[in-house]
Amino acid sequence: MATIIVTGGAGYIGSHTIIELLTSTDFTVVSIDNFSNSTSRSYQRIKDISGKSFDSLELDLCNNKELNAQLSKITDIVGIIHFAAFKSVPESVADPLLYYNNNLNSLTNILNFAKEKKIKNFIFSSSCSVYGNADELPVTENTPLKAAESPYGHTKQIGEEIINFMCKAFPELNAVLLRYFNPVGAHPSGKIGEFPLNRPNNLVPIITQTAVGKNSLTVFGNDFDTRDGSCIRDYIHVSDIADAHVKALNYLIENKNKKKSTVFNLGTGNGVSVLEAIRSFEKVSGKKLNYTIGSRRDGDVVAIYANNNLAKTELNWIPKFSLDDMMGSAWKWQQNLEAEK
Ligand code: WQD
Repeated sequence: MATIIVTGGAGYIGSHTIIELLTSTDFTVVSIDNFSNSTSRSYQRIKDISGKSFDSLELDLCNNKELNAQLSKITDIVGIIHFAAFKSVPESVADPLLYYNNNLNSLTNILNFAKEKKIKNFIFSSSCSVYGNADELPVTENTPLKAAESPYGHTKQIGEEIINFMCKAFPELNAVLLRYFNPVGAHPSGKIGEFPLNRPNNLVPIITQTAVGKNSLTVFGNDFDTRDGSCIRDYIHVSDIADAHVKALNYLIENKNKKKSTVFNLGTGNGVSVLEAIRSFEKVSGKKLNYTIGSRRDGDVVAIYANNNLAKTELNWIPKFSLDDMMGSAWKWQQNLEAEK
């Protein structure tokens, strides 16, 4: 049975993508995760939502010997979706080598496996952070990449280049590099969502935790050169991101790709400020958020949002969820998490 390997499958975007794979394709799915930023509880949630089962391996991709020993037992692998990586901008600024070692070694190991097994289709979880502080907005896939503002973003820039060279070197390998903007929200069922093991660094889980009294929200700067002084991002619902992965996989498997390695921006095309995101949450939740204005955070770019026309035309991908949908689903998930306690 045609099998898709999903690395980081217990994580936020990986778990939502497995749900889409199980509910909209006939692929067999094998998830690989070392639970460094997730728990196996995600797997049961995926099964409850999709009504389908799948296999999983607890494995650190940095352990190349174990990776090859375990994955060589799997037959008929037609594609790999590689999510597994650390992804916190501030954490990478504080501990660069943690990010270079983990994100790059895991990538080169799984790529080596793909090369050895002549696996043709590889999808890479990249990020809008590869653009740095772009000179032009919205960014297109051809916008020149500036110096990354964080080691996290730098590992994504390097990762893209490694994959590009691998696709040039090996005839079988084709890749899609998906540059996510800011994935937020939770599955509409409310049964799965972002589940940070430690204190989250990202805006939306901090907003929802603040709303239930488990966290406190500081806006990192309101003196930027933007319409309201706070940073601008392109928030995109995690289920829209997941849908794009299925479309990208079919794009490669059906040989529709015009290049061996193709980049796509995954954003809505709408720039939203931090303060606007907070107002959207307050509107959909009916909760007044207490927050303070603090100093800027190292590694933050001032503004970034996508030109997503290429994904629309090439992948036939259209984001479905609005900012209010994103905030409403995140809030529903947080409330369900509280009820589970
Ligand atoms: C968003 C905005 C903060 C927390 C993310 C992911 C990264 C990558 C790119 C996919 C910024 C502000 C945040 C807080 C705040 N995604 N903020 N107070 O840094 O844009 O990066 O998207 O690969 O993996 O981390 O996201 O949610 O941390 O910040 O004011 O307590 O919210 O300054 O302007 P970021 P974020």
